[in-house]
Amino acid sequence: MVPTPRGRSVTRAVAALLAVLAPVVLVACNGDPYPQSSLHPASDGATAIDDLYRQIVIWATVVFVVVEALVLYTVMRFRARPGQPEPAAVHGNTVIELLWTVAPAVILVFIAVPTMRTIFLLDGRTAPDGALEVEVVGHQWWWEFRYPALNVTTANELHLPEGRPVRLTMTSADVIHALWVPRLMGKRDAILGRNTRIVFTPDSAGTYLGQCAEFCGTSHANMRFRVMVDASGVFESWVAAQQGGVAPLDTANALVAEGDTAFRRIRLPASNSCIACHAIQGVSGGVLGPNLTHVGSRTTLAGGILSNDSAGLARWLANPPGEKPGSLMPRIELTPREIAALVAYLESRQ
Ligand code: CUA
Repeated sequence: MVPTPRGRSVTRAVAALLAVLAPVVLVACNGDPYPQSSLHPASDGATAIDDLYRQIVIWATVVFVVVEALVLYTVMRFRARPGQPEPAAVHGNTVIELLWTVAPAVILVFIAVPTMRTIFLLDGRTAPDGALEVEVVGHQWWWEFRYPALNVTTANELHLPEGRPVRLTMTSADVIHALWVPRLMGKRDAILGRNTRIVFTPDSAGTYLGQCAEFCGTSHANMRFRVMVDASGVFESWVAAQQGGVAPLDTANALVAEGDTAFRRIRLPASNSCIACHAIQGVSGGVLGPNLTHVGSRTTLAGGILSNDSAGLARWLANPPGEKPGSLMPRIELTPREIAALVAYLESRQ
């Protein structure tokens, strides 16, 4: 059969729709099956949120099925038929009006009670004894994580021990940000001049993706981070490595020594000097950018958007605002040799 023009245009429309949908479906198949799914909770707090969500989905399903059934029934039963006279006008029906007032009110009670219970559970929690304290500072556009009791400061990668309660105390260095790790916790705003808190216990080791969840400027979408929930022993060795002080300079490697010099160099304007913004223990004390004392031990750079390897570091150093639009780290005129030296030096800061 020869397809009609109408048939051909339908085929084309279906093909176009599939072409648009295919990437969306394929994006979902990227290794980690649940990178940011709150339906696969990995902490007690996220499990409470997931339970609530599932209860509400059940109620929403009941409402949907009943309402749609009534709509279909009404449409079929009372549709116009040939020769049918105009139906009589009716004003009010006490029984039906009572039903459609009372039934939603009852359903809302069934939704409101578990919702409030979950809110109070998550908000009113105090940290149990032995909870790990972490201070979180949101910056445009990266995350700082400090462990005051352990004297450790890191960026964009939060390490937590599996099975131990943790209390995050959040604030901001500039505008409002929001910390969100869908598999571990609900969203929590980070606000300048205020401390917000959240308490939870991660229950399975793994790497969980987080994301700033409050629009905070040009690179809001590039304000990512990772939470590494470490199995017993792994967290302790990470802490020991972070506390281990600054790595000695590999004097046999000329590039590393050059990188050390380039890092310390005072450039003009002063904001073009690495040491103006970054701290490396024993070298500099800048607090505007991430602490780089152990930058080589991290897996990502620049708000979690670049992998922390030679290529990623070189790309970042060559043009920060090109990688992360609006980046407060300026583009600094560096020679290829200086970039290679800084890459070697930073990678040696383990
Ligand atoms: Cu920080 Cu959005």
